[in-house]
Amino acid sequence: MENCIALFLAAGEGKRMQSSLPKVLHKLAGLSLLGHLLYLSKEVGINHNAVIVGHGADLVLEEINKLGFRADIYQQSQRLGTAHAVLSAIEFLEKFKDKTALILFGDTPLLTADDLHTIAQPLNTENADIVVAGFYSEQPKGYGRLIIEAGELNSIVEEKDASDEQRKIKFCNAGLLGIKVEHLINLLPKITPSAYSGEYYLTDIVGLGKHNGLKLQAVELPAQHVLGVNDYNQLAQVEEIWQQRKRHSLISNGVKMVAPQTIQLSFDTKIAAGAEIEPYSIFGPGVQIGKDTLIKAFSYIEGAIIGAGSAIGPYARIRPHTVLENNTKIGNFCEIKASHIGAGSKVNHLSYIGDSQIGQVVNIGAGVITCNYDGYNKYKTLIADHAFVGSQVALIAPVAVERGAYIATGSIITENVPADSLAIARAYQVNKLNGGYKLRKRLSGK
Ligand code: UD1
Ligand code: CA
Repeated sequence: MENCIALFLAAGEGKRMQSSLPKVLHKLAGLSLLGHLLYLSKEVGINHNAVIVGHGADLVLEEINKLGFRADIYQQSQRLGTAHAVLSAIEFLEKFKDKTALILFGDTPLLTADDLHTIAQPLNTENADIVVAGFYSEQPKGYGRLIIEAGELNSIVEEKDASDEQRKIKFCNAGLLGIKVEHLINLLPKITPSAYSGEYYLTDIVGLGKHNGLKLQAVELPAQHVLGVNDYNQLAQVEEIWQQRKRHSLISNGVKMVAPQTIQLSFDTKIAAGAEIEPYSIFGPGVQIGKDTLIKAFSYIEGAIIGAGSAIGPYARIRPHTVLENNTKIGNFCEIKASHIGAGSKVNHLSYIGDSQIGQVVNIGAGVITCNYDGYNKYKTLIADHAFVGSQVALIAPVAVERGAYIATGSIITENVPADSLAIARAYQVNKLNGGYKLRKRLSGK
């Protein structure tokens, strides 16, 4: 879409969320609402983007930078409405007079690439001057309504300003607008504040365009794509739709889920065909799962790359900066943090492995703990290929266990263990004959 430029309105406070976080920074599937839109713009190949910021501008800028997105930033000093917001970016518009502008609201994150093409197409090929996206809703409350007269788009009336009759209209303004930049520059300054709310409505540009003889067109988009997030109920609704969409796409691509509705994914979750995800598993950002890997129920995984043919869980917690190579096994109630575990290794029961480098075909017994933190600093544990760490071993980092070494159950390991040796670091057992009998007698006083 090289002929298009995009403007993202992200200055609003989001009063209805009742949160100090700027609305567009609330997260959907682990990524800000604004982030979803910026990625969409990239996906469709729009090269010139402007973001209009205002409330919480510093935080919004930080997010844009964090995502590595290149955009021109404009400040809307006061929140005087959506038209006023676009006017704040007039310098941006002046640079692209021969192009088409897509104006997107930072709070409608479910839009798809097809939706943007649907808007842009009449502007590029059918000579339309303004294209408005509409959708049908049985609950149109809060949305602007598209006024169609004699089959043609006439104007948009905001809910607040609408008559009782107009409020019954179910064809709503999705908030996504396409307009030739030259007309936008011409019409924006002509918008006057609403008599009811005092705001400058971008939606008034439609009626003005009509008045000035421009060609208007309304296109219909699926209602589920254009939901606006104004409060936490809508955020939850949007999350549900997004999750459904993502799960459907993974399942269609060969990922097995028997109870998909219980699985929570992130915007960037990658799961290869042949993998199976058991119920109630949660994927935070930055997860990649290899083919034929089984994620058993109730696992919580974030920031981890998991190789093919592995089995994780049930009840495993895999934390960021973790790489599990092919055919690894992580069992119940294990926590793995910032660690690399080589192919064919197993951590099967009740362990904490943090800041560790574990080689191939290593066995970590039940209840093994890497003691990586002394209250001030974090230290590394190294365990080489084919080592065997018995149950209930504590490895006090920094420490290294060399290739093929064997560590006896219950050991507290403070020194490096040489290759192929057996380390036993625990008190030897003493059996005092009759000692139990004597002790019982003394304690019971009989
Ligand atoms: C808007 C539309 C409405 C449409 C609905 C779709 C207008 C006047 N109304 O209403 O017709 O049905 O979206 O979701 O356009 N913003 C600014 N500066 C401002 C005001 C808003 O940047 O001064 C930004 C907000 O951050 C938000 C977007 O513009 O991302 C939309 O504002 P919002 O207040 O949510 O508009 P709605 O009342 O939902
Ligand atoms: Ca809104």
